Amino acid sequence: MTFSIDLSGHSALVTGGGQHTGRAFSMALADAGASVLVNDVVEEKAEAVASEIRAAGGQATAAVFDITDLAAVQDALGAHPVDIVVNNVGGVREITFPIVHFGDSDPQRWHRLVELNLFGNMNTAYAALPYMTERGWGRFVTIISDAARRAERGMGVYGAAKAASAAFMRAIATEYGPQGITSNAISFGSLRYEGQPEADPETLKRMTRLYSVKRMGTPEDPVGLMLLLASDAASWITGQVIPVNGGYTNAL
Ligand SMILES: NC(=O)c1ccc[n+]([C@@H]2O[C@H](COP(=O)([O-])OP(=O)(O)OC[C@H]3O[C@@H](n4cnc5c(N)ncnc54)[C@H](O)[C@@H]3O)[C@@H](O)[C@H]2O)c1
Repeated sequence: MTFSIDLSGHSALVTGGGQHTGRAFSMALADAGASVLVNDVVEEKAEAVASEIRAAGGQATAAVFDITDLAAVQDALGAHPVDIVVNNVGGVREITFPIVHFGDSDPQRWHRLVELNLFGNMNTAYAALPYMTERGWGRFVTIISDAARRAERGMGVYGAAKAASAAFMRAIATEYGPQGITSNAISFGSLRYEGQPEADPETLKRMTRLYSVKRMGTPEDPVGLMLLLASDAASWITGQVIPVNGGYTNAL
């Protein structure tokens, strides 16, 4: 049996597509034949990835908007309707470092974390569902974190927003399954990126001890599962959280 993923005839939005996993997702979707709307709030990043895709012969358009702005998301998807949404924006970077316990966190920051990791995904769903419903086909792939599935120090608000995002993704799966729309989440372990400042070796050692596969993740690690979930091959997989995490939590 041969197995390949062909997304020609489909159009995909990747939020935060301008770097790291978002870039890897955008490139892979285009490579599989989808026309890709590469979103980022930073214009140069979105443009760079869209140009890279076009230079390689794929179809891509940069879409510069903030996913937490519903009107902007609706405008973008009104102009370029999509039947695949990869909700990649999120994270804790720039927002909660240095990591502190909840009682020492800045309440002003909670809202932005929840906006980025939860409300943004509601905005893309609200804007994309009319076209998906009309087509009778749609895919949501939402990136969450292992911080949503187990307690990680300093990650309370982030983990709560990601867990809520998983609950939201399941609700969409249930409500829109009858219309051919699936909705799943991929839960990442910790990824390392090229160009990222070197982590303290002791911290890295402590972290990799928790992984069955003894390395940190890369932006390419979740790409295969994302493509599968975005395709017809996964039409009977919905409402699931699937970890891509090197076996984090397999053993104590
Ligand atoms: N990096 C990790 O180790 C890790 C671990 C677990 C889960 N995750 C999850 O993976 C996803 C991707 O993480 P990452 O580390 O690659 O992210 P990143 O911060 O490296 O990249 C996110 C991209 O999104 C853009 N962006 C930020 N805010 C935006 C907004 N409001 N609207 C549009 N674009 C915006 C940024 O400019 C950036 O290009 C996130 O959902 C994150 O929570 C990451």
